[in-house]
Amino acid sequence: MGWGKYVPERVVTNSDLADMMDTSDEWIKTRTGIERRHIAAESEATADMAIEAAREALAVADADPRELDLVIVGTVTPDTCMPSTACLVQNALGAFRAGALDLNAGCSGFVYALAMGHQAIASGEHDLVLVVGADTMSRIVNQQDRSTAVIFGDGAGAVLLRASEGPAGVRATALGSDGSGGDLLVVPAGGSAMPASAETVAQRLHYLTMDGRQVYRFASRTVPRVIEQVLEKAEISLDEVDWIIPHQANLRIMEAVAKRLHLPDAKFYANIDEYGNTSAASVPIALCEAVEKEYISPGQKIVLVGFGAGLTWAAVALEWGPSVQEISAVFYRRWLRWVVYRWADVHTRWMRFARSSGTRAWLAAKRRWRSLRRKRD
Ligand code: COA
Repeated sequence: MGWGKYVPERVVTNSDLADMMDTSDEWIKTRTGIERRHIAAESEATADMAIEAAREALAVADADPRELDLVIVGTVTPDTCMPSTACLVQNALGAFRAGALDLNAGCSGFVYALAMGHQAIASGEHDLVLVVGADTMSRIVNQQDRSTAVIFGDGAGAVLLRASEGPAGVRATALGSDGSGGDLLVVPAGGSAMPASAETVAQRLHYLTMDGRQVYRFASRTVPRVIEQVLEKAEISLDEVDWIIPHQANLRIMEAVAKRLHLPDAKFYANIDEYGNTSAASVPIALCEAVEKEYISPGQKIVLVGFGAGLTWAAVALEWGPSVQEISAVFYRRWLRWVVYRWADVHTRWMRFARSSGTRAWLAAKRRWRSLRRKRD
């Protein structure tokens, strides 16, 4: 019922990269289809972008953030190992009653998270779920490795799911993984297997390493299979599909998948030229853009498909609903969201202050006051 995206202002073109390393606009364009990518400012991290995208999704749906039941953020570049980026998003939105968790499924993170969000609603447990895909890949890309430095960009995308009875919405999901390919896309250091040390930093082991050829082969074979699988589950034929919104990793992969499925390239929404590979953010950014450009209309059948580190792959088949296009923001709710976001900020500052040692007396007084009230009741 809502969608939103955020990409950083700073744009780095292929020519900019050619000035910094041994590469060329021609090589990048012909091998990947990328022309530009958006790179986060020094002050920006994954949660900042995720919050912007989430607020846009809530505005589009004209929803009250306080009603959120669950916040899931697909990411491989959380702000910190602990706490999760989802908790930072939940807090900044003022989603005080929501559960929050990060989901790491590489570049398939958003599609995995969407499948989980859908299941959380289908189980009857939750009504309003926010699903975000956000990554700041520029922080884990080795600028001295030209085979990865030219590919990735930063950004975030979000969708809001609400329980409904209508035909629109998620019709089927399909997930897969193959850990034997874990070494093909990996950040070796910084985890429990190889904690950060001066040596790991000196050896640049906190950066992403990728076997591009193997990943290319894996994606071209697996993506058509998972698309067919999810369509079979959804009982939708390939001919009925209006749009395939794939993970934007390489234009040639999209063309290879189209060829294998005997579909025209035009059915695949591509915006890799503008953003590069934004990892978990690429599918929701593409979905948002396609909706904003009015390429997607009510009743259309869409497949979202992701693949990436793990190895992982995932697809969601959905029907775009008329309801999502008809929402118009009520002034009072727009104002309410503004107040909730400000309140969330004040609440955080206050709670941090109140939890600090200087305010123990205040907390004790609060506890006494509560117990007195309980006794009185
Ligand atoms: N600029 C110029 N030359 C480059 C380069 C760059 N940025 N990066 C690599 N090269 C060179 C290589 O050094 C190699 O040179 P050599 O033949 O002299 O050894 C040559 O280009 C070919 O390299 P190769 O890695 O075989 O290129 P490729 O055609 O396989 O394309 C990728 C490389 C990365 C674009 C491609 O493999 C790919 O897109 N793979 C999928 C990656 C992906 O999707 N990752 C994300 C998954 S979520």
